[in-house]
Amino acid sequence: TTETEAQLIGKHEVLPNYIARDKFSHKGEFGHALVIGGSYGKIGAVTLASRAALSAGAGLVSAYVPKCGYMPLQASFPEAMVITDKDEAILTAIDFEIEPTVIGFGVGVGTNTKTIAAFEAFLKTNKQLLVIDADGLNILSKKKSLLKLLPEHCILTPHPKELERLIGAWTDDFDKLNKAKALSKKYKLILVLKGANTITIFNEKLFINTTGNPGLATAGTGDVLTGIITGLLAQGYHPSVAAIFGVYLHGKSADIAVEDFGYQSLLASHIINYLGEAFIDLF
Ligand code: APR
Ligand code: MG
Repeated sequence: TTETEAQLIGKHEVLPNYIARDKFSHKGEFGHALVIGGSYGKIGAVTLASRAALSAGAGLVSAYVPKCGYMPLQASFPEAMVITDKDEAILTAIDFEIEPTVIGFGVGVGTNTKTIAAFEAFLKTNKQLLVIDADGLNILSKKKSLLKLLPEHCILTPHPKELERLIGAWTDDFDKLNKAKALSKKYKLILVLKGANTITIFNEKLFINTTGNPGLATAGTGDVLTGIITGLLAQGYHPSVAAIFGVYLHGKSADIAVEDFGYQSLLASHIINYLGEAFIDLF
């Protein structure tokens, strides 16, 4: 097999990419992130991802959810705008009038055939940058023909099980990375392989994150990462930078938060609350 370039990612690697904020900045300059997802009982995933997108610096955030998500989202996250599907419990159509700059799809969305059909129709006309996570990835695994509809530099953020559904079982880490690199190359994707040392694959290069800790092994932290990356994309970070910087900030926030909460009690929402400290720690 071919030789692979790999780089460890810490503060000094991400800092040169940081976009500073001008005194006269306006929210219109920081983009409009749209988080599409959720189903009955899994609206929290969308709440976490959209809060994370705004906390990562997006100018505006909208959430697109089934009807049952309207009240909980509006009540728990007043900064977000909410658009609803016609269906009470699942997404059956992806149809909105707004003009988002970036879209995050998949958290808590389920894999109902109606949702898959809606996602396929959406992909056929979508022109925006896209992040796909969780059941969004499971939909791609169930219907692999959708992969060729993904936009260039689409960001996929699988955990190991989601990755296995996408690329099949692997024999060892080397085989896993080769299979993932092949998928990334074939469809011009950015792959974020989540785990203790999350590896981002872009242009056949590997970027190995050095932040994060076992406190992150808790429900919803993946949804928060999706939101952070979506929020960075909204501000104009290149997709490769949004992925690598997003993974770094997510881990760094957890490293700071764990000092107050300990590994056991760290919650996904704490990662959002400590994101500001992760930014401040850059300087
Ligand atoms: N050390 C460092 N980071 C870790 C560790 C660890 N030991 N364990 C997990 N993480 C990080 C991962 O790198 C990733 O960023 O925590 C995050 C976990 O993401 P997910 O596995 O997607 O977990 P979660 O957000 O709980 O998933 C929510 O999505 O994929 C579905 O089935 C999943 O229903 C679940 C939902
Ligand atoms: Mg997840």
